[in-house]
Amino acid sequence: MAASLATHGSRSLGAALLGIISLVACSPDRDLADDESSTADTETDADHTDTDAPTWWRDVEPVVRTACVTCHSPDNIGPFSLETYDEFLALAPILAPAIESGQMPPWPPGDDCNTYANDRSLSDDQQELLLSYMAGDMPEGDPADSPPDGPPAREVVPDAVLEMAEPYTPTSADDYRCFTMPWPEDITEDRFVTALEVYPGERSLVHHVIMFVVEADQADDFLDLDANDPGPGYTCFGGPGTAPGLPPTWLGAWVPGLEAGFAPEGVGLRVTPGSMLIMQVHYHATPGMDLADRSSIGVEMQASVDRPAVILPMTNIAWLAGNGAMHIPAGDPDVTHETTIDNTHPVMANLIANGLGAPADADLEIHDGGLHMHLFGKRGRLQVRDKGGGNEACIVDVPRWDFNWQSSYLLEQPLILSPDRELHLQCWWDNSAENQPFVDGVQLEPSDLDWGDRTLDEMCLGIMYITAAK
Ligand code: HEC
Repeated sequence: MAASLATHGSRSLGAALLGIISLVACSPDRDLADDESSTADTETDADHTDTDAPTWWRDVEPVVRTACVTCHSPDNIGPFSLETYDEFLALAPILAPAIESGQMPPWPPGDDCNTYANDRSLSDDQQELLLSYMAGDMPEGDPADSPPDGPPAREVVPDAVLEMAEPYTPTSADDYRCFTMPWPEDITEDRFVTALEVYPGERSLVHHVIMFVVEADQADDFLDLDANDPGPGYTCFGGPGTAPGLPPTWLGAWVPGLEAGFAPEGVGLRVTPGSMLIMQVHYHATPGMDLADRSSIGVEMQASVDRPAVILPMTNIAWLAGNGAMHIPAGDPDVTHETTIDNTHPVMANLIANGLGAPADADLEIHDGGLHMHLFGKRGRLQVRDKGGGNEACIVDVPRWDFNWQSSYLLEQPLILSPDRELHLQCWWDNSAENQPFVDGVQLEPSDLDWGDRTLDEMCLGIMYITAAK
């Protein structure tokens, strides 16, 4: 379906960039000695010499390597490479605005909510460093000044590797495709997933991945979705599709630069025998590229953990019917719906008793949080608060929702949800004429929206990784 749906507008980035590269490459060589002013007036240090000015090798490259090159390298998802000094120099005129506006690196959560262990945004100092470097002469410096590499990132040592059954060739810039991956048949008892890593087959295509898990009794329904769609996998937009029963839960999310997800010590997510994993991939292909992807995942698991975890997909059950409870009128630029849930709600009570094996009035720990809306979402926020409001503690707040950069955000300090508190979820949408998607190059007319899993439906979900408190 909607293979031509364009959520990125219709800009031709490649052509624009080529223009800039040739423009900058033709400018005369920069001469450091001719221009002292750019660094002189920002330095008050009496011992200042020009060697204190930031250089590529000593100051800038280490930041760019961790903040940009994870995506902007050859054969990766970023539309151009920022690996080398020459590349950075040539592209500086377009990099500065993207850095200054916070558009790059992509990091949707707002600053005022919480702090996250997987935060890949630039610190204020790093942002300032890159911008002042680009505003000046951009000296290369000496490769010998390059700081030593930090310790290597922890890697998943997989107990099982699950792979797409066959390669898939995506066809558009926004091709959402789901692949079923049966949980290994030889695992006949419950296992607890303690770490997950996604191995993109073709990095230049894989924009992001969300892993879902469905229980054994629903596995056939999802195999049917696959069988009824020609080609490997099946088209799926917001989630992995629906089957009778509870919606599939998240197992994890992956975006480039976030190589692996580890559960806290002694914590794991239960997967029962016969389950089905579903890998939803957002492919970002240029039509005619004709590249195939065969991604896989690696999973670390244990037979038992101190504290089992569950993933709570939080929403208002009444919205799911799609019969007006989450009505988003055509043309309205600012629509909001909100909902709350606490430990007396049947979904929560069941999760606490059966998923966590904890008493009904247990304190819970929220380890990470994410949000899910579709194309019309403009803001989402998830928080813990006193019942009825007050003493809010923010889990995640995405002030400018972007469907293309969804993730879950790992709280540096888990938040406690005590029995006298509640979870509060609020979503905002923009359904005005200006905010309609393009289909085949034509912008759609606004229409009334409601809950559903097609491209022109909406959702409002909070997703949390929860355990009982220690
Ligand atoms: C998580 C992956 C990722 C990281 C990290 C990242 N980028 Fe990007 N960048 C992309 C993708 C993908 C695009 C293509 C447009 C899009 O999908 O948003 C892009 C587009 C851009 C653009 C073009 C913006 C436009 O108007 O379309 C610039 C400039 C840019 N990136 C600069 C940077 C810089 C500088 C950094 C580091 C400070 C960085 N990016 C970090 C993935 C990334």
